[in-house]
Amino acid sequence: MIGFTLLATLIAAVAARSLPVRHGSHSIAARSALPSSFTWTSTQALVGPKDDNRPIDGIKDPSIIEINGTYHVFASTASDAEGYNMLYFNFTDFEKAGDAPFFYLDQAPLGTGYRAAPEVFYFEPQSLWYLVYQDGNAAYSTNPDISNPAGWTAPEHFYSGTPALIEAGLEGGYWVDMWVVCDATDCHLFSSDDNGRLYRSQTPIGDFPKGMNEPVIALEEASKYDLFEASTIYSIGNGTYLTLVECIGANGRYFRSWTSPSIAGPYTPLADTEANPFLGLNNVEFPTGTRWSKSISHGELIRTNVDQNLYVEPCNFRFLYQGVDPEVEGSGGSYNALPWKLALVTQTNSECSNATMH
Ligand SMILES: *[C@@H]1O[C@H](CO)[C@@H](O)[C@H](O)[C@H]1NC(C)=O
Ligand SMILES: *[C@@H]1O[C@H](CO)[C@@H](O)[C@H](O)[C@H]1NC(C)=O
Ligand SMILES: *[C@@H]1O[C@H](CO)[C@@H](O)[C@H](O)[C@H]1NC(C)=O
Ligand SMILES: *[C@@H]1O[C@H](CO)[C@@H](O)[C@H](O)[C@H]1NC(C)=O
Repeated sequence: MIGFTLLATLIAAVAARSLPVRHGSHSIAARSALPSSFTWTSTQALVGPKDDNRPIDGIKDPSIIEINGTYHVFASTASDAEGYNMLYFNFTDFEKAGDAPFFYLDQAPLGTGYRAAPEVFYFEPQSLWYLVYQDGNAAYSTNPDISNPAGWTAPEHFYSGTPALIEAGLEGGYWVDMWVVCDATDCHLFSSDDNGRLYRSQTPIGDFPKGMNEPVIALEEASKYDLFEASTIYSIGNGTYLTLVECIGANGRYFRSWTSPSIAGPYTPLADTEANPFLGLNNVEFPTGTRWSKSISHGELIRTNVDQNLYVEPCNFRFLYQGVDPEVEGSGGSYNALPWKLALVTQTNSECSNATMH
């Protein structure tokens, strides 16, 4: 249950964001420099596996957008017995997110088998929704109607196989967590190798989704745990981009952050340590109940601008993450059997300016 005070905060935050969604053009929003440290408040776990006669152990890797007051969430289903697939659900109140029925995306042409870690956005030039995910390759499905989850097409691939550069660095890792973000001229495809490298390819926006070039290394760390997976890159306006990457620290999973003047970098560290993370154990409070998760793992900032530019106003960020009971996480069992659930964090130290929208 969410306590009354937090619920009131959530409702106020939702009300403050009930602005029209615009495809393709961004309102010139109030913005200011991001702080160099962040603080957040978390709900308890909101969404976990349901009793749907499926052997699902965890709900993971959420991608979330808000359209006219409805939140649309795509997420991975993790099953120690059956592997990974994905689901979709929607709701209007976080308080009731756990009641939303799941639509399992193996019921769509997207199909059965290994699919995981979705990212959803609206590709304005084609008036088409894209779901980008991993299926052993970097995959996508499309759908003209976000409200029709049965409409997601069968997987198609950005690459003909694992690119040589990624294959070469993959020993001991996994190729995961594909992410597309576009600027006015190009679309970029990021992915991680669970081995300390973040890769980037690009193609002219007019060619998307075809034509992704050979990847380059965007970011690299000597220790794989310092640059692990679940990277996301957002436009925060004014020609600035925010990059987040999930890492594994001494006290669980957390996110480091960088800013850059273009999607291709160069990337300047912002809050990028376990002691001063973008998001992690050190800067998230749990005002109601217990600290239900130490790890703040794979998730996304909530976007109200849903197009391929992934613009997020750098103001009162909200982030839907996956967390897990620390005792179970530390018990040494199978990673795919961990009972991951989803919860919401809301930024509490925003330095937004007070300029009016126009
Ligand atoms: C936009 O970026 C420039 C250069 O970094 C900065 O001087 C200016 O204050 C920024 N404007 C806003 C509205 O944030
Ligand atoms: C949002 O709601 C408005 C008013 O009902 C409607 O005109 C608009 O098409 C809706 N936008 C989306 C993206 O559904
Ligand atoms: C919410 O999800 C259901 C499937 O569970 C779908 O039929 C419905 O259209 C969705 N609602 C909206 C507003 O997209
Ligand atoms: C914005 O400005 C108004 C009027 O000066 C003030 O009442 C309000 O508290 C300000 N809001 C923020 C978030 O600073």
